[in-house]
Amino acid sequence: MKCIKGAILVACLAGACFGNELKFDESKFELKSVQVGGVELKFRAYEGIVYVAKPVSEYEVLNFYVPEGKFSDQRTAIFMPNAIGGYMPAMPSKPEIQNKKPNATLEALLRGYVVASVGARGRTLKDSENFIGKAPAAIVDLKAAVRYLKFNDKFMPGDANKIISNGTSAGGAMSALLGVSAGAKEYEPYLKELGAARADDQIYAASIYCPVTNLEHQDEAYEWMFGDLDKFERIDFSGLDAASFNDRSKKPQMVTGELNATQKELSRELKAKFPAYLNSLNLKDAKGHMLSLDENGEGSFKEYINALLSRAFTATKSSDKNTLTPKFITLDTQGCQLGYTFEFEDFIASLKRAKAPVAFDGLTLENPENDLFGDSKTPTKHFTKFAKEQSGGEMAEAGVIKMMNAMNYTANKKAAKFYRIRQGTSDTDLALAVPAMLALSLKNVGKEVDFEAVWGQGHGGDYDLDELFAWIKRVVER
Ligand code: DHB
Repeated sequence: MKCIKGAILVACLAGACFGNELKFDESKFELKSVQVGGVELKFRAYEGIVYVAKPVSEYEVLNFYVPEGKFSDQRTAIFMPNAIGGYMPAMPSKPEIQNKKPNATLEALLRGYVVASVGARGRTLKDSENFIGKAPAAIVDLKAAVRYLKFNDKFMPGDANKIISNGTSAGGAMSALLGVSAGAKEYEPYLKELGAARADDQIYAASIYCPVTNLEHQDEAYEWMFGDLDKFERIDFSGLDAASFNDRSKKPQMVTGELNATQKELSRELKAKFPAYLNSLNLKDAKGHMLSLDENGEGSFKEYINALLSRAFTATKSSDKNTLTPKFITLDTQGCQLGYTFEFEDFIASLKRAKAPVAFDGLTLENPENDLFGDSKTPTKHFTKFAKEQSGGEMAEAGVIKMMNAMNYTANKKAAKFYRIRQGTSDTDLALAVPAMLALSLKNVGKEVDFEAVWGQGHGGDYDLDELFAWIKRVVER
């Protein structure tokens, strides 16, 4: 008896006692239905499942949906979207028609997938005294949700070894990070504090739209691409609440202006820093050729980005081309295949910056990313040496900055095997170079990455659900 008691105590100290609390209750669902194009989709909705034993907010919940016909199926892949935008707190999405189309959650159910849509804390959350959603809260929550699904795999429909995450922008950054950072020990104390289920947090695949990741180098990448643009048209972040940020169908308030002399100088300095960083990554293209930049920002990496743009244009449906053909593209009829040649500078000149320098680590700590890196008592901090040295203010802890950047984990052995990354060519919230560096880093360590720029697409995601689910179908069959 003594022995058994001892064993229970050890198990509890190790966290196993959370088991009962975190057990999935199969009977707690509502049967719901949605009409889509004359067809009725019936599904079980387990909404508001608290996925940790010691939640600190109302956001640590997931919605679990199972389409009719899959109630006792243990093999179907689980689609796991997050609705995070702007690093704000986000509740889990529901299957809905939005802008006259099924959203990704509904589309997944229509295609017979099980869905676990997840909520997560974000930068603005506060309890009565402290901030409770600053970095790394969002990624810790997503990991805890994966652990819940894995812990309960035997009792839940779907296969928790086939989780495919999905997210856009800040949510895309989190989807990428969830994909690559499985099992990294630095998240462990945070997971323990929340009472996360004792299971691993490895996922199978990650779908990533316009990821605002690699925040330590976003400013340099941004000026490398958009440094020649003097005019900006940026979102007015002041007064934007979580609901409006996360609802991508709403157009936010914009502020327009032109860079002043100081901003132009900052832009030049940041642009000059990018080649050294890019070269330090030792990226190679599909043929094994090194992708690099000289000190002026010219070189094979720029050609690679230009080729991505050309390919995006070539891939656009021919009917769109008539309306879209801009003057910076020339039709290349020399070879046996039709192709388009781009003038990179002319293309960039056709865009408007969404951000003035410093684009991410604001000198007056004014940007959403400064807010992300605050701590329980401090609202905002810096996360780059450059901005900190220019303006003072506190620097976030190096360990926390590291835990928010997918680029730090691409070589992780437990990282997901499959990635789909999309970035619109008209998206000036972040430089195309950022998802490109992520895609190349992953490819260079042998991951399977489907990466494309999408012609004419602005900042957003889930715009190509047929293609997304075709990719999911392909990878889950592997
Ligand atoms: C998002 C957009 C941004 O421009 C940014 O800096 C961070 C996040 C977003 O849409 O999630």
